[in-house]
Amino acid sequence: MRYFFLSGLLLCTLGLANAQTAKRLNFTVKADSIKAHVQPTMYGIFFEDINMAADGGVYAELVKNRSFEFNTNLMGWAEQRKDGGNGTVSVVDRKTERPENPHYLTLNVNTPKGYYGLSNEGFGGMGIRKGEMYNFSVFARQHAGSKISLLLELHDSTGAIIGKTTLSPQGTEWKRYHATIQANTTTPKAKLYVWATNKGSIDLDMISLFPTHTWKNRPGGLRADLVQKLYDLKPGFLRFPGGCIVEGRDLANRYQWKKTIGDVDQRENIMNRWNVEFEKRRTPDYYQTFGLGFMEYFMLAEDIGAEPLPILNCGMACQYNTGQLVPLNQIDPYIQDALDLIEFANGSADTKWGKLRIALGHPKPFNLKMMGVGNEQWGEQYIERWKVFEKALKDKYPQIQLISSAGPDPSGDKFDYLNATLRGFKADILDEHYYRDPDWFFKSVTRYDNYDRKGTKIFAGEYAAHSPNKAGTENANNWQSAIAEAAFMTGLERNADVVLMASYAPLLAKVDAWQWKPDLIWFDNLNSYATPNYYVQQLYSLNKGTDVVPLTLNGKAVTGQDGQFASAVLDKKNNELIIKIINTGKDKMEAAFDITGAGSLKKDGLLTVLQSDDLYTENTMSNPSAVKPHTQTLTVNGKNLVLDVKPYSFNVIRLKLAGK
Ligand code: AHR
Repeated sequence: MRYFFLSGLLLCTLGLANAQTAKRLNFTVKADSIKAHVQPTMYGIFFEDINMAADGGVYAELVKNRSFEFNTNLMGWAEQRKDGGNGTVSVVDRKTERPENPHYLTLNVNTPKGYYGLSNEGFGGMGIRKGEMYNFSVFARQHAGSKISLLLELHDSTGAIIGKTTLSPQGTEWKRYHATIQANTTTPKAKLYVWATNKGSIDLDMISLFPTHTWKNRPGGLRADLVQKLYDLKPGFLRFPGGCIVEGRDLANRYQWKKTIGDVDQRENIMNRWNVEFEKRRTPDYYQTFGLGFMEYFMLAEDIGAEPLPILNCGMACQYNTGQLVPLNQIDPYIQDALDLIEFANGSADTKWGKLRIALGHPKPFNLKMMGVGNEQWGEQYIERWKVFEKALKDKYPQIQLISSAGPDPSGDKFDYLNATLRGFKADILDEHYYRDPDWFFKSVTRYDNYDRKGTKIFAGEYAAHSPNKAGTENANNWQSAIAEAAFMTGLERNADVVLMASYAPLLAKVDAWQWKPDLIWFDNLNSYATPNYYVQQLYSLNKGTDVVPLTLNGKAVTGQDGQFASAVLDKKNNELIIKIINTGKDKMEAAFDITGAGSLKKDGLLTVLQSDDLYTENTMSNPSAVKPHTQTLTVNGKNLVLDVKPYSFNVIRLKLAGK
């Protein structure tokens, strides 16, 4: 990189680009003209258990169907015999006694020698690392007169044993047992073998295997590498648990937070709605154990410095599926769930639900400030339910900001009706969703310019540019989609007085078990990579600043003229000016910034560039850095800055203000 200083003007040429051939555009930044305040929570994350994001993903449990609650009770398990051992296996139903955990297993070993048992295939295998310790646990009870011992083995995909240990359950009462296995090999596709030896019978339930190393090393915790990627986004909020999963295919399949807290063996498992959603992406082994339940979501939010944003079912199942409705005269339990959740999150030890939170290990309140009423609902039926929710919640907790659905689309009849009606009711915040092609994102950069500045605010709660891959077959996390989002987000930033929060969706996807593309982060059993879209989100989040200031080209906001999109914010905490400029053209551009109202700029600045010459570029597991940010220093003199902006690039410039 070379810099030229021309009478107080910085000319910075990047790479080998020839400054003389680039078109020059003159931008103006008025650093002393504050237009809006940027919420500290502006850029957050949307978490839904779709694409195996929770079970089989962030939730680090390695055993699939650990409590035999899948519709096919032994799905994921296979009978095994060795050294002449033999036996039978049966699944026992104890629904009346334990409705929330109705099934367990009985192993009958009918040979005195050898081993009989089951193997578990994990979630497309188990990701195991050499040298790491794995915590095995099981609920077990011997049948009268039986003295069965368990041999636990990890096998790699060739069948080689890569770690083992033994366990001897005692007595005829249910008890939880623990053992540890150290692995001597790294493999993405291990299996767990649970062998029983000695003639007799034993009951088993909740057969579980977790890495010892999890996020914050919590037992039964979350995958550290994936949570780290969330942490690195420095998200302002965490929206959970979705998405359509809140609604369920039918009401029985909806998300019920009270069933997701406490001991994991008492959390009722249900089918994940994404199991059957798409004909071409059926995932018959996709269930919800709720091991990542509401307590874990709140703690995750706290860990990554994000405000918790739970979305609750409002008495409506997914309107793309059954659309089941709770009659209005039976909606009280749904409203009570919402009221109780606020008490659970914020209540003191004197309250029923606050006391439970404390008993679960979190004395400090989670300081919940906002909540969603329904996910992607629409129509009069939503408004009817919304009204009773809103009244009950605002009566008791007027300070809680309510997020209301603006429907599944950013325009059209459903949107217009909800937009007008909810604004009429002075709803706090509307949750707008847009999954659209890149062109929509470019054109919609001015979407919020004319929104009402004083009334209902906006949460861009789910969005992603859907751009096909090179073959035109599937939506891809390519640079074309990411640069479109970057360009569009200048419009969110410019309108930070209207748009209070925004989150890309969905967040996570497993490479061999996804239902929905594109997604922000991709992972397999051992590794993960960030998409170009992730880096766009991260650059906005890390450079959100505190106050919007005008950045113009010929007196107008930069909304696509000559292929350029730009915005600027002050970071008052660090006394910096942050400029974001996106060149969507195929040619480089010479950008000259005239910065007024900030006095002279300090010498040191930073330029971060996210770029690819090929709009089809994607990051992959084997090439995770095809598109990633590169930061370099800028040395600035005076009030003006000139730099070459690469084609197809997203640039973040941080300049230190010296004061007036
Ligand atoms: O993000 C995937 C899905 O898109 C969400 O579950 C739903 O809210 C939307 O339709």
